[in-house]
Amino acid sequence: MKIAFLGGGNMATALIGGMVERGFAADDIHAIEPDAAARERLQARFGVRALAAPDEGTLRADVLALAVKPQQMKAALTPFAGALRKTLVISIAAGLRLVDIGRWLGGAGAPHTRLVRCMPNIPALIGAGVTGMYAAPAVDAAEREIAGRILAAVGSTVWVDDEARLDAVTGISGSGPAYVFHFIEALEAAGRAQGFDAAAARLLALDTVLGAARLASSSDDPPAVLREKVTSKGGTTAAALAHLASAGWYDALIGAVAAATARSRELGEQFGQDRT
Ligand SMILES: NC(=O)c1ccc[n+]([C@@H]2O[C@H](COP(=O)([O-])OP(=O)(O)OC[C@H]3O[C@@H](n4cnc5c(N)ncnc54)[C@H](OP(=O)(O)O)[C@@H]3O)[C@@H](O)[C@H]2O)c1
Repeated sequence: MKIAFLGGGNMATALIGGMVERGFAADDIHAIEPDAAARERLQARFGVRALAAPDEGTLRADVLALAVKPQQMKAALTPFAGALRKTLVISIAAGLRLVDIGRWLGGAGAPHTRLVRCMPNIPALIGAGVTGMYAAPAVDAAEREIAGRILAAVGSTVWVDDEARLDAVTGISGSGPAYVFHFIEALEAAGRAQGFDAAAARLLALDTVLGAARLASSSDDPPAVLREKVTSKGGTTAAALAHLASAGWYDALIGAVAAATARSRELGEQFGQDRT
């Protein structure tokens, strides 16, 4: 199976690295990347071919993974317009809808329909991401399996059966790492306010989040039960959680996800327009 990446930046590098580590043959992978230094890095690190522009091999690849910025996509797809037949196209571009990608790939002809859209998140860069995935109706089970295996190279995957759900995935896990970073920042600031130096405050905050996430992930108990178990009546945690509740923290987070979801929808409309 030949796999071509359009764009050889951060995400493509993480995916290619993860795929090679999991046994995809480097000989079967190539990347199109305009930046010469990035091409050299990909070739040296993973032994994959990296080209400045698509060639015949790119057009004949079994899978084309779209890993350029959303605003670069329309121009980047120009060489492919009307040229693909059975290629499975997997887009990881945030916000871009399949109807727009399919139309750009189709050129003057019928839209391309073998399309999968994914929304990974930034921990994919260290193989610890989570990706929401949607397959267009023309994609068969074997192609879904291939797309799932490719994205599993950078973390876990969750399929959705309605493309619009990917806006909510963006609001939860796509933007989610920033909410967690912000939480760490606040816990760190609280540590400094209690008199710890910056290094100690960071370690206390970071390892608390890391440890709690690992415990929640490995435990049979849901997070709510874990929380109850560490919250004794009248104790310190209860005092803190009561303060968070009175500050409206829980509802604020739900509102934040709704705001990100709505913004994702707006950006999708904006990116998909045919103006250049
Ligand atoms: N990073 C994340 O956390 C994250 C999360 C979810 C989704 N995504 C999506 O993943 C995609 C890639 O993001 P990224 O962070 O990897 O971006 P990136 O590092 O900027 O990579 C994109 C690469 O594509 C290259 N490129 C531009 N035009 C091209 C063309 N016509 N043909 C081939 N390559 C071209 C760019 O080169 P130049 O730099 O020279 O323009 C750049 O090296 C984006 O669509 C983004 O929405 C990223």
